[in-house]
Amino acid sequence: MPAIGLDLGASKAVMAVLAGGEPRLIPNREHSPLTPAALALDPQGGLVWGHDALASGEGALEMWLPRLGEAASLALGGLEYTPEELAALFFDCLRQEAEAHLGQALGRVVLATPLAFGQRQLALLRQAAHRAGLFVLSLVPSTLAAGLAYAWEHPTAEPHTMLVADFGAGSLGVALLRTFPGALTVLGQAGNRWLGGEDFTQAIVAHLLRRLQAERGLLLDETQAARRALRRRLRRTAEAAKVALSTVEQVRIALAPEDLGLKVGLDEVLRRNQFEGMAEPWLAQALETVERALAEAGLSPEGVDAVLLAGAASRMPFWQAELARRLRRARFLRDFNPLTGTAMGAALWAALVGQVRCPTCGVASPREATACPRCGSRLSGEARLACPRCFVPNRPEGLSCHKCGTSLRAARQRAGAPLARAWSGDEGLRCHRCGLVAPAGAGSCPHCGSVVAPFVGGLSRYDVGLEGDGGRMDVVLPRGRGLPTQPAWRVFASAEEGELLEVPLYEGDKPVARRNERCGTLRVELPADGGSGCRVRVGFGFDADGLLEVRAEADDGSGHALDAWLEWAP
Ligand SMILES: Nc1ncnc2c1ncn2[C@@H]1O[C@H](COP(=O)(O)OP(=O)(O)OP(=O)(O)O)[C@@H](O)[C@H]1O
Ligand SMILES: [Mg+2]
Repeated sequence: MPAIGLDLGASKAVMAVLAGGEPRLIPNREHSPLTPAALALDPQGGLVWGHDALASGEGALEMWLPRLGEAASLALGGLEYTPEELAALFFDCLRQEAEAHLGQALGRVVLATPLAFGQRQLALLRQAAHRAGLFVLSLVPSTLAAGLAYAWEHPTAEPHTMLVADFGAGSLGVALLRTFPGALTVLGQAGNRWLGGEDFTQAIVAHLLRRLQAERGLLLDETQAARRALRRRLRRTAEAAKVALSTVEQVRIALAPEDLGLKVGLDEVLRRNQFEGMAEPWLAQALETVERALAEAGLSPEGVDAVLLAGAASRMPFWQAELARRLRRARFLRDFNPLTGTAMGAALWAALVGQVRCPTCGVASPREATACPRCGSRLSGEARLACPRCFVPNRPEGLSCHKCGTSLRAARQRAGAPLARAWSGDEGLRCHRCGLVAPAGAGSCPHCGSVVAPFVGGLSRYDVGLEGDGGRMDVVLPRGRGLPTQPAWRVFASAEEGELLEVPLYEGDKPVARRNERCGTLRVELPADGGSGCRVRVGFGFDADGLLEVRAEADDGSGHALDAWLEWAP
């Protein structure tokens, strides 16, 4: 059961696995390493994903990942799904792709996620993977995975500072990494979850709409649905124009009335400088993210030696030009694939993780463990059965689908024997010096003693806190702290009789708690005889992945442990 690296983005997913001690991309059924994050139903009502979903026309569901954590409901073939359910569905599709290629069941995954994701998105993504039967070994920010992939390929003798900018479809992440011989550390980082290549596409969509109205005399149907439909029709054309403008100075956009479902068509030349003018506000936001990352790292632009561009939107020439203007001393590292490098880094990460943590009770076990010694939970992937009606993955022994209640009996009979789940051990990395493959989890080669992969240290992404006196943000765990962190303790008194203490959690840097993102809720089960006024001590910490973890005890000197957990549902 191999551990794989999986880079999940707003527009596509890429998977990689170690083979012969090196990361290799996992191709999908179309022999491409890139699987569009699109879902649709085929004419027979079956689920299709990736390129098939894009080819299915207007009904394809795209760009759902940035909505993770919102109380949103997205329609697919007459059924409504939350973004978390779509994530589980898509993970299940990816699992099938990877298992078809590898010929064996998947064991564990390292998920590379947008750096800008906060606690709620990360926790929901991990839950979604789990629902799809994937065991998440670790969550790594895409910028760090990209940096690791580069650093592993190019071991350095000299320390240097690298700015990694991952400009994807839905988000931007910027990290400053210091690479040493044998180590890679994050100096500072900043993300923007509301800025991605899609915004630049939408700038062109808005421009085309204006043209249709102003020059073609289109009277837009005022219904929201009609506007949405027209925007959807313009989007793919706008995206193709944007991509073309990265290499050519102008593009012709020609759409017949029937392409648009309108009485008028469009025939228009869009020049690169025109597009750049439209994109200015978003470019300014992107540069502001770079400034924040530099400030967190305590670096001036002159302190950056190299720039590593990740994410397909990093191909926009004006973004590269602005970075070059700002970071004058830095050279651009060209021998890196911005689309697939992050997944390669996630696969490398999978080889570095020494211990596996139980998702139920948090106890760490050696990597070889397949079940938690404390609570018995599984520590590797599990088989799943897709519901024949709504397609969400279910536990195979279940009687009916947990989402729509459809009976799973017929589906169980149809689904042949599950893939073998024999534990064959994971692979480690090939030693650059002697060429032998080290065991998984080993940082140095057992044969010649040299370092096989840099030691990697991550930082917490955002301030996490509570509402304090006068509504101010009481930051319990600050951003920019080395991971994992020591617990920070707070004492709470339950004001009312009740069985549960409930505390809202906030994430962000605004001084007023409620102006930040409400990212989740802490719940603590109070002692049965506690009653009103019972006091509990809660320890908050970030684990090695930067995810919040809590523990609680009675604050009466007894140290009596209490049940405490976090809820992430929006
Ligand atoms: N040549 C190009 N020039 C400009 N933009 C491009 C080019 N090729 C792709 N893009 C844009 O890059 C974005 C996709 O980038 P990428 O595949 O890295 O995103 P992602 O990993 O799916 O998303 P995220 O990391 O934000 O969750 C899309 O907005 C796409 O239009
Ligand atoms: Mg990405």
